[in-house]
Amino acid sequence: MPVITNIDDLKRIHKRRTPKMFYDYAESGSWTEQTFRENTSDFDKIRLRQRIAVDMTNRTTASQMIGEDVSMPVALAPVGLTGMQSADGEIKAARAAEKFGVPFTLSTMSICSIEDVAARTEKPFWFQVYTLKDDEFMKRLFERAKKAGCSAIVITLDLQIMGQRHKDIKNGLSAPPKFTLASMADLATKWSWGLEMLGTPRRFFGNIVGHASGVKDASSLSSWTAEAFDQSLDWARVKQLIEMWDGKVILKGILDADDARKAVEVGADAIVVSNHGGRQLDGALSSIRVLPSIVAAVGDKIEVHMDSGIRSGQDVLKAIAMGAKGVMIGRAWVYGLGAMGQQGVTKALEVIHKELDMTMALCGKRDIKDVDRDILLVPEDFE
Ligand code: FNR
Repeated sequence: MPVITNIDDLKRIHKRRTPKMFYDYAESGSWTEQTFRENTSDFDKIRLRQRIAVDMTNRTTASQMIGEDVSMPVALAPVGLTGMQSADGEIKAARAAEKFGVPFTLSTMSICSIEDVAARTEKPFWFQVYTLKDDEFMKRLFERAKKAGCSAIVITLDLQIMGQRHKDIKNGLSAPPKFTLASMADLATKWSWGLEMLGTPRRFFGNIVGHASGVKDASSLSSWTAEAFDQSLDWARVKQLIEMWDGKVILKGILDADDARKAVEVGADAIVVSNHGGRQLDGALSSIRVLPSIVAAVGDKIEVHMDSGIRSGQDVLKAIAMGAKGVMIGRAWVYGLGAMGQQGVTKALEVIHKELDMTMALCGKRDIKDVDRDILLVPEDFE
């Protein structure tokens, strides 16, 4: 077993163990990948103030997200197809998250269904919703999430149409995978993945297979989303969905202060400042760069979370110091899952927690709830 000390270690093992098609699916951004790159490089531009001779005993990273107690303000972001990174990947990740005391978000585009995950976990999880044209299907999906005990829905608003990721087209991404000679050669070196998959049979896309618009499966992700997703989605529809759920709602994919104000108007409980990990509008600003303007616009009216680009506890601390109440991590947990299953997701959380705790202390803070802008040195053009 290699010694793992950071998220990059997990990423390297993920790449070695998982078929190229699925590793590339996780690692891609859209088009030129400018936004994908800047999501991480912009974090590096923010620097931390070292403080000394401050009592560092009795530290805590415990906080709350949408009123739920969390051991650190980090939720697992919804990620599609994670059951292809590791067999039953969604269940493994949900179990790792609940043991760690952080929220798990199940994607609409998961391999395991809402019911599969609910049956194998103890605590409520969050369910992420893409808005499909078929209203009856949406109602049924909400009923299923309620029945499974989901404590919140996360409505993703930045993917009415799917950003193009070159690698997915070149690799012929599909689930179940349609293997070519090249992909079979790749799989031959990743036999442990194949054996695990064969030993864990499951229906693909447990939340949407059989969906009433006539789409029978989702073997090609981009053509299915083009047909099934509601491209006419607007704020009136978002409000309807919020009312239909009748519980905690997080709106994900906000990158503009005007849209954040709309989210307040329609009655959301929280927003996630996000560019979908650089997978949608290439050329958009990084999430950490726009976070301050959104916190300034709505931070006193609604809980602001952020994601996109978080690869370390230092990044989490920077986002909290910039005004986020919590963050979501996407690829960071997927690397762990692809590398080592449930144990790998736990490892990713441990790595991030340790970095967060120690960095907070070295910045002179003992309690995450006391962290503010004072610990940061932010470039002027971030305002
Ligand atoms: C995503 N993301 C995503 N978001 C969502 O609302 N529903 C989904 O099904 C998916 N699927 C998905 C697949 C993959 C492979 C990735 C990498 C991301 C976006 C995700 O929730 C989150 O916004 C980003 O992953 C955050 O960026 P980082 O942490 O990956 O940089």
